[in-house]
Amino acid sequence: MKLFRFVPFTFLISSYLLFLVTCLNVPSLRIGQTSVLVGTKLYFFGGYLMTTKNTPIAINEVWYLDLSNSSLFNTVIPTWYKDVEMPVGIFDISCVSSFNNSDIFVFGGRQYLPNSWTISFNSSVYRFDPNNNSIWSIPNITSFNSTFKTRSSIQAVIDKTRVFIFGGTSNKANSSDNSSRIYYNDMNILDITNMSWSTLVIPQSPPYFAYTATLLPTGLIVYISGLDYLSGVSPVNMSEIRTFNTTSLIWSNITVNGSSIESRWGHSAVLGQNGDIIIYGGSKYSVDQNTQALPNLAVLNTNSWTWSIPDIPPINTPKPLSHHSAALYKNYMIVAFGFIASTRGLFNKDVYVLDTQKYVWIAVNNTATTTKGSSTSQKSQTNKAQETSNSSSNKVPFIGIGVVSGIVLIGIISFVIFLLFKKRHKSYN
Ligand SMILES: *[C@@H]1O[C@H](CO)[C@@H](O)[C@H](O)[C@H]1NC(C)=O
Ligand SMILES: *[C@@H]1O[C@H](CO)[C@@H](O)[C@H](O)[C@H]1NC(C)=O
Ligand SMILES: *[C@@H]1O[C@H](CO)[C@@H](O)[C@H](O)[C@H]1NC(C)=O
Ligand SMILES: *[C@@H]1O[C@H](CO)[C@@H](O)[C@H](O)[C@H]1NC(C)=O
Ligand SMILES: *[C@@H]1O[C@H](CO)[C@@H](O)[C@H](O)[C@H]1NC(C)=O
Ligand SMILES: *[C@@H]1O[C@H](CO)[C@@H](O)[C@H](O)[C@H]1NC(C)=O
Ligand SMILES: *[C@@H]1O[C@H](CO)[C@@H](O)[C@H](O)[C@H]1NC(C)=O
Ligand SMILES: *[C@@H]1O[C@H](CO)[C@@H](O)[C@H](O)[C@H]1NC(C)=O
Ligand SMILES: *[C@@H]1O[C@H](CO)[C@@H](O)[C@H](O)[C@H]1NC(C)=O
Ligand SMILES: *[C@@H]1O[C@H](CO)[C@@H](O)[C@H](O)[C@H]1NC(C)=O
Ligand SMILES: *[C@@H]1O[C@H](CO)[C@@H](O)[C@H](O)[C@H]1NC(C)=O
Ligand SMILES: *[C@@H]1O[C@H](CO)[C@@H](O)[C@H](O)[C@H]1NC(C)=O
Repeated sequence: MKLFRFVPFTFLISSYLLFLVTCLNVPSLRIGQTSVLVGTKLYFFGGYLMTTKNTPIAINEVWYLDLSNSSLFNTVIPTWYKDVEMPVGIFDISCVSSFNNSDIFVFGGRQYLPNSWTISFNSSVYRFDPNNNSIWSIPNITSFNSTFKTRSSIQAVIDKTRVFIFGGTSNKANSSDNSSRIYYNDMNILDITNMSWSTLVIPQSPPYFAYTATLLPTGLIVYISGLDYLSGVSPVNMSEIRTFNTTSLIWSNITVNGSSIESRWGHSAVLGQNGDIIIYGGSKYSVDQNTQALPNLAVLNTNSWTWSIPDIPPINTPKPLSHHSAALYKNYMIVAFGFIASTRGLFNKDVYVLDTQKYVWIAVNNTATTTKGSSTSQKSQTNKAQETSNSSSNKVPFIGIGVVSGIVLIGIISFVIFLLFKKRHKSYN
């Protein structure tokens, strides 16, 4: 009987601990975010999640992992840092970091009032300064093409001076009605040295979106799979790779041989150190968009233009993800969040690391549910805030809010326990 009383108590305490960890220093699960490496910091912007009431909200959160001490690559729980939030909640978002890492540019995406599902389009381009006070601004762009407004399902790439963004799709800005969607076959180019915009219509390509884009050192952008829009939506075959030469500005198709790889969207692509493109995850396009595309991981050799499927030991293999994000740090491919493609949409909270030289998944400590992990991370967060003195004003209140909510929650828990005990007492009498 006495043991029975402890059940709700234990449950409440563990929910509290979970709450502390979730709210203080670990991002909650999400999909449709973007990630980019800036020096040794891996940034994550936006995305959306389902609340406990099962309603979606678009988030404006910015998080990063500092990979300099390889905290991700050993058995220690990775430390997350929260940075200054975006002006709006955005998912289906794309970003690039400038060559000298002085700016991050965020493009397109579906925009909402922060942490809501109320559409609120603000700007097609944001600039974030990750080094100096984490400032968000809306750049003034010359000759901006207004058809780019509300563009989503795009992936931007950047060379030393220019950002290239192909096609995509847009909704009417203030409407979630997809009957008003428009699909594009244009190449939008932003020169970041003078912030001037230009648009090239590409008649050789159908309207095309939900692809991955990877810039090779040769200046060729490689577009992989995704969806065409002709009379309807159709998936793009993996044996047909589309490319854009950023010197000649010419679009062309390349036929790729090798292993048979299923078409997909919601996948990711990173450029490996040896010049191979590694694609991961994604879903097969259908009315039920959550069917896993196979194989989960494939490698495109960009010299011979052939697909292959590496033989990876099953240990530490992630669940098959879709609408996740991926980035390369040294020889590590870091995959995070997204939904689990084989489960009809369960979200993923974990981070996975692939050693792209040995083709093995590395053990990552994704257990972040202990108070020990919680306090360690808080301390690091405070240290971080002191290091960059100006950022502290943005980071400390965050911890403060967590602690205050924690105290309030303890109050509520105590009250509930009190009520439970009182009720039980009555029924025994
Ligand atoms: C990395 O380790 C060094 C030495 O232990 C320490 O001074 C530094 O703060 C650490 N950096 C991070 C980001 O953890
Ligand atoms: C993960 O980290 C926690 C806290 O540091 C530690 O207790 C646990 O053993 C680690 N798990 C693994 C699998 O290393
Ligand atoms: C867009 O965001 C900027 C920066 O936060 C803000 O100054 C501006 O008022 C916003 N505009 C709209 C239309 O929401
Ligand atoms: C980085 O490059 C931009 C132009 O792309 C330039 O305006 C800026 O001054 C550079 N910053 C540093 C720290 O070199
Ligand atoms: C940091 O930002 C301030 C304005 O917010 C600017 O005056 C200063 O030049 C910037 N410093 C660097 C190193 O970019
Ligand atoms: C954009 O231009 C306006 C007016 O010229 C100016 O007030 C504003 O500061 C500029 N914004 C940025 C981010 O440079
Ligand atoms: C959305 O609607 C508001 C109010 O009706 C309007 O001010 C705003 O310009 C609209 N946004 C776009 C991108 O059309
Ligand atoms: C929008 O698309 C979804 C599925 O993608 C569909 O269920 C819904 O009916 C569409 N709405 C309109 C207005 O076309
Ligand atoms: C911006 O710079 C690029 C390349 O230097 C040049 O081609 C373009 O004309 C410039 N645009 C403006 C508006 O000055
Ligand atoms: C703007 O983009 C649209 C759609 O791709 C294109 O038709 C139009 O020519 C572009 N306008 C300019 C001035 O480039
Ligand atoms: C891109 O085009 C330029 C100019 O035509 C050409 O010299 C170069 O070889 C092309 N690059 C690739 C990777 O095909
Ligand atoms: C590339 O392939 C697409 C789709 O199959 C086709 O519509 C287009 O004409 C091709 N473009 C070139 C330049 O061959």
